[in-house]
Amino acid sequence: MTESTTAGAVASGTVDIGDLSVRRLGFGTMRLTGKGIWGPPDDHDESIRVLRRAVALGVTFIDTADSYGPYVAEELIREALHPYAEDVLIATKAGLLRTGPDVWVPLGNPSYLRQEVEMSLRRLGLERIDLLQLHRVDPNFPLEDQVGELVTMRDEGKIRHIGLSEVGVDELKAAQQITPIVSVQNLYNLADRSAEDVLNEAQAQGIAFIPWFPLAAGPLAAADGPLHQLAVDHDATPSQLALAWLLKRSPVMLPIPGTSQVSHLESNIAAAEITLTEAEFAAISDAAA
Ligand SMILES: NC(=O)c1ccc[n+]([C@@H]2O[C@H](COP(=O)([O-])OP(=O)(O)OC[C@H]3O[C@@H](n4cnc5c(N)ncnc54)[C@H](OP(=O)(O)O)[C@@H]3O)[C@@H](O)[C@H]2O)c1
Repeated sequence: MTESTTAGAVASGTVDIGDLSVRRLGFGTMRLTGKGIWGPPDDHDESIRVLRRAVALGVTFIDTADSYGPYVAEELIREALHPYAEDVLIATKAGLLRTGPDVWVPLGNPSYLRQEVEMSLRRLGLERIDLLQLHRVDPNFPLEDQVGELVTMRDEGKIRHIGLSEVGVDELKAAQQITPIVSVQNLYNLADRSAEDVLNEAQAQGIAFIPWFPLAAGPLAAADGPLHQLAVDHDATPSQLALAWLLKRSPVMLPIPGTSQVSHLESNIAAAEITLTEAEFAAISDAAA
């Protein structure tokens, strides 16, 4: 394994979000909330430190959603980072209703999507959201109406770019009949590669692929997990290998590992500085398959 000399997320390179460019190693804010992604985090001040440290380490893509908390993650982002540095992109989402801890209900009623975007703008202290991702496609409403409402809000200047979350290739292409889509965010990590076809499509089109649960929500970062021995051999941590593997997997890959702790954040971001050989890439693939 060779280590680059460029520090922090800068070493991950960049990927385009429409006309914007962000570092390929981002940060996900879902863990800055209470149990069940409901209510405030246990340690508010540490959450603020995590967000500020992420940006200090070169992260320019911060993923969030109004449904995280709900509202908690967006409020923390504003408290920690507003006014935002010019190169920092806050990507949020709309399309999920929260009725309790661990309860997530897709709701694509265009009026609800509009309210979510309006309230995210207010909460984040933004005049325009650089990337608004449709969190889920709601089968109870026509796709044209859900994406169409976001297009209307883009035309009104409230959204800059539109992305999708948890879609198949057919849904991506159907949405692209309506408007340009700049990113797809799907579940994808070393241990669950079921979205491989969507990743390949995103890569072929040159649009960002944002893998959620890049650490399988924890197990791939665990000291006793499947990457334990390889990590020991390479003087790295399991989470670093899992993230370095993602970064090598595709040039459009934009992982957004989540954590509530500065120490974990620093370790995760250092993964950008790891360059895997083909043999190491294959060994990590096999270890976690
Ligand atoms: N589009 C969607 O539907 C969707 C769904 C889920 C998530 N997301 C987004 O994707 C982001 C990433 O997913 P995620 O945060 O759920 O899962 P993840 O990044 O795969 O894993 C996060 C978990 O791993 C732990 N962890 C992180 N770094 C670690 C380290 N270095 N050592 C040990 N443990 C570590 C964290 O605990 P600690 O807090 O203790 O570090 C946390 O419990 C979210 O934050 C959110 O922005 C999107």
